[in-house]
Amino acid sequence: MNLLIAYFNKKGGTAKTTSNLNVAAALAEQGRRVLMIDLDPQASLTMAVGADITAMEGSVYDVLLDESVPVESVITGTTIGSVELLPAHPDLAAAELELLNVLERERVLAHRLNTLDLSTWDYVLIDSPPALNIISINILVAADALIIPIEPHPLSLMVLKRLFETLAKIRRLNPDLEILGFLPTKVHSNSRLAADMLLTLEEQYPDLPLLPVIPLSVRSAESTAERTSVLQYMPRSPVAVAYRSVATWIEEPAGPVDAPVAPARSASEELHV
Ligand SMILES: Nc1ncnc2c1ncn2[C@@H]1O[C@H](COP(=O)(O)OP(=O)(O)OP(=O)(O)O)[C@@H](O)[C@H]1O
Ligand SMILES: [Mg+2]
Repeated sequence: MNLLIAYFNKKGGTAKTTSNLNVAAALAEQGRRVLMIDLDPQASLTMAVGADITAMEGSVYDVLLDESVPVESVITGTTIGSVELLPAHPDLAAAELELLNVLERERVLAHRLNTLDLSTWDYVLIDSPPALNIISINILVAADALIIPIEPHPLSLMVLKRLFETLAKIRRLNPDLEILGFLPTKVHSNSRLAADMLLTLEEQYPDLPLLPVIPLSVRSAESTAERTSVLQYMPRSPVAVAYRSVATWIEEPAGPVDAPVAPARSASEELHV
């Protein structure tokens, strides 16, 4: 069982946030204790689970930039049953620059999470920004495992190449990082684009499992508008059923795979962050 799982893809709009939220809901439904961490300055996950960012006392920004803030003091409840959240705030965009002068800037998140009693939760699910920046590097260094949500789109496969180059460089900073697999999202059953993408993924990344496919569904956006998960909003919808399958898959993965290895150099230097 993996503890710290990040939903990660540099490409925007691949359903990282939606998947984080709904898998958290599904794991909680299966009796698991889940903490979500929003590390995207867009704060989409934070807003999607009902938090009011204008009234927030503290956020992950404070956790990263101020060691005197206890991490647990920032954790809040959500509209998703027992699921808890370390929220984001748009201020997090500034952390990018502010972290540049911090010692071991790639490990700040890992250090801060080490101050928590992580045994409180069965899973910690991290939502990532659509970027390869210092926050993303912090996520890759802190995480035990990655899930790569990917949508049928002509650019999806092109973006993956750069992502895997980054993951190869990260190995020096986090040798134990595992890639659980690709999570195909927004898949229309009759779409040739989707069928082609799934085939190409299997051909180009034969060692990486494909997680259960998430169908294209308007229910996803509707449930977000209602500030809840699709499991609560429409429990028997195909998309809710699919997210339950993903949660079950995570509990019994079909064999995680190590990230690829690249020559050792400073990841942050090579990535210019
Ligand atoms: N299964 C689905 N079917 C249809 N639309 C979906 C589905 N899942 C997510 N969406 C929609 O796709 C859009 C992007 O989803 P989401 O915000 O989860 O992606 P993201 O990868 O987190 O985006 P970003 O990169 O900006 O953080 C949203 O409008 C969301 O409602
Ligand atoms: Mg997002």
